Amino acid sequence: MTAPASAPAPTSPAPAPAAEPVAGLPADFRWGVATSSYQIEGAVAEDGRTPSIWDTFCRVPGAVAGGDNGDTACDHYHRMPQDVELIASLGVDTYRFSLAWPRIQPGGRGKPDPRGIAFYDRLTDELLERGITPWVTLYHWDLPQELEDAGGWPERDTAYRFADYAEIAHAALGDRVRHWTTLNEPWCSAMLGYEQGVHAPGRRDFGDAMRAVHHLLLGHGLAARRLRAAADAPRELGITLNLGTSTPATDSEADREAARRADGLGARIYLDPLVHGRYPQDVLDDLSARGVTLPVEDGDLETISTPLDVLGVNFYSGHVFSGVAEDGSTTGEDGLPVTRIIPQGRPRTAMDWEIVPERLTELLLRLEKDYGLPTVITENGAAFDDTVSADGAVHDADRTAYLAEHIRAVAAARAAGADVRGYFAWSLMDNFEWAYGYAKRFGLVHVDYATQRRTVKDSGLWYRDTIRLTRQAT
Ligand code: NOJ
Repeated sequence: MTAPASAPAPTSPAPAPAAEPVAGLPADFRWGVATSSYQIEGAVAEDGRTPSIWDTFCRVPGAVAGGDNGDTACDHYHRMPQDVELIASLGVDTYRFSLAWPRIQPGGRGKPDPRGIAFYDRLTDELLERGITPWVTLYHWDLPQELEDAGGWPERDTAYRFADYAEIAHAALGDRVRHWTTLNEPWCSAMLGYEQGVHAPGRRDFGDAMRAVHHLLLGHGLAARRLRAAADAPRELGITLNLGTSTPATDSEADREAARRADGLGARIYLDPLVHGRYPQDVLDDLSARGVTLPVEDGDLETISTPLDVLGVNFYSGHVFSGVAEDGSTTGEDGLPVTRIIPQGRPRTAMDWEIVPERLTELLLRLEKDYGLPTVITENGAAFDDTVSADGAVHDADRTAYLAEHIRAVAAARAAGADVRGYFAWSLMDNFEWAYGYAKRFGLVHVDYATQRRTVKDSGLWYRDTIRLTRQAT
């Protein structure tokens, strides 16, 4: 996948900005890099790990680009100490990683496997020895296959299984890991996994997706309660949501409604119960018009709204919506109101996502106003078609520009009153990008999958220098 050494240097749209201190960030602002277990670890059948839904999904013909899978990924399971050295070399103070549920508790029920736990024990210790804070995500999409066979997230029992697993993981690491995220992007688990079928487990049923939303949130709340009640209760406990902005294309009723619907199912269906202890009424009305009722039982909303210390925000883009199709109709072939994304003509990443950094400022201010929780950017970054140049380096000026603009957008939000406390770049290194396989590269570090050679990209060096200069200036 790496270009031969003689390949011409890639052309970049703009020269890379030089590293400079970012004004307006406090001395204790957190700087990190992030990864997730299935995307980097490999070693899927070692030390008692059982298959997750992603191991199964990758074997479905056509499900993942190139027929790729996470069997080896970045081989991080065997290269962990060197990878921690790499993290340290970037000068970050925090490393966000996830635990593989099927490693810690194979099969998703019953006894933990000490061998799986031992890996994360060693990782935690390696990080702490280098002064890097471990920031653990409990669930980044690798559900044990046995739990999917029993119905997966649309089943209430999965929420209880998640709480048990969370308690096991916390009992093993909580004396040293003080920062815990329950779920990563439950929207993706529910909508991509159970409605659109483009992520594991590949199901396509809107009602199941909505039941999954509720049970993911319930699992979050049950786990949050267990962790809060435990010895070594977390210093910072949170959940990570993928959030963007939903802007109406015009002031017309149809466009405003389209933006409202997008914001409802994309953001408020998570944020409102988590923070305010209730589902938004307009979303419930939309669901009931589609014949769907959320399986809410007595006490669930109290559980789901267990107080949080921090909201993790993964930001990649923002969208403008119209409620009118190109042919002028307001109802689609599926009988649903049209909710159409209107391209803004902005530059795009290799994922085809528009680059709109000012929307990150807007989002953080909106979260401050409507929800009032401290935030951390738990992911932000971009895929570009990187190549290793003849000089052995990766000149990814486009990624550097992306990071620079978004970090400035975070500082602008802070200056305007948003309590945003950290920024974690996605990702430490190129890795398994889900349905896109290894074709999309998000890393600050390039990975040659044939040799597992790591090369820090220009953007990684820029990030390191930016962190150092910003710290020196505060
Ligand atoms: C969000 C997900 O948490 C992460 O796993 C993924 O690789 C990035 N977005 C990029 O798509």
